[in-house]
Amino acid sequence: MDIASLLPLTTPRLTLRRFTPGDADDLYAYQGLASVARYLYRPAHTRERSEEVAAERADKTAWGADGDKVSLAVCRRDEPGLIGEVSLTLASAHAAQAEIGWTIAPGHQGHGYATEAAATLAGFAFETLGVHRLYARLDVENTGSVRVCERLGMRREAHLVENDLDGDRWGSEYIYAALAADLRAAGLDVAGSARGAGQHAHP
Ligand SMILES: CC(C)(COP(=O)(O)OP(=O)(O)OC[C@H]1O[C@@H](n2cnc3c(N)ncnc32)[C@H](O)[C@@H]1OP(=O)(O)O)[C@@H](O)C(=O)NCCC(=O)NCCS
Repeated sequence: MDIASLLPLTTPRLTLRRFTPGDADDLYAYQGLASVARYLYRPAHTRERSEEVAAERADKTAWGADGDKVSLAVCRRDEPGLIGEVSLTLASAHAAQAEIGWTIAPGHQGHGYATEAAATLAGFAFETLGVHRLYARLDVENTGSVRVCERLGMRREAHLVENDLDGDRWGSEYIYAALAADLRAAGLDVAGSARGAGQHAHP
């Protein structure tokens, strides 16, 4: 399926919309920072890489095959431009397993935007895309991301010890996961607010 017609998603304070090539400057403003790339196991983006990424993301709205990834720009409803991104990757179409990710520009962190965006994307994943289990992988030192997972009501399922190499540092990761029922129990609105939500399509 193509989820383009189901976008944007909205939350009380945010719009989650498709990227456009014109987002390159806003994207580079945070993806170009070493502090943002610190736990992403890759270098900070160059300006050219941000241009490529914005253009690539604009076209990626397919959902149904293993590896399909949709990234959405997180925008405040009360000001222009974007403040970050959330993503959903279909790890297994057969088992309806998806990975969620989030990044918020440093100047907009500490306001609950990552949690608000992720809760709505999780709702969309469960209720509209038919995802059965949603998981996040994060560096154990990424305390901001750990707190987002825990606010969402995700369960810490695994602690992988020195399973990756980040420059010259051995990286260890947590895997957090949730089923729809877990998020409902945490009191989050997993129904989401997608335009056109209400379909229950298996990915
Ligand atoms: C991970 C990341 C998105 C977390 O951002 P964040 O702003 O801390 O997360 P939230 O948007 O959910 O904000 C939560 C904070 O806002 C505060 N807050 C303020 N107003 C709030 C509100 N209305 N609702 C909820 N929280 C609110 C909370 O108290 C919380 O602060 P605390 O963690 O000090 O207790 C951010 O650190 C980031 O982008 N890092 C770089 C990229 C990255 O590592 N991504 C994850 C890879 S796994």
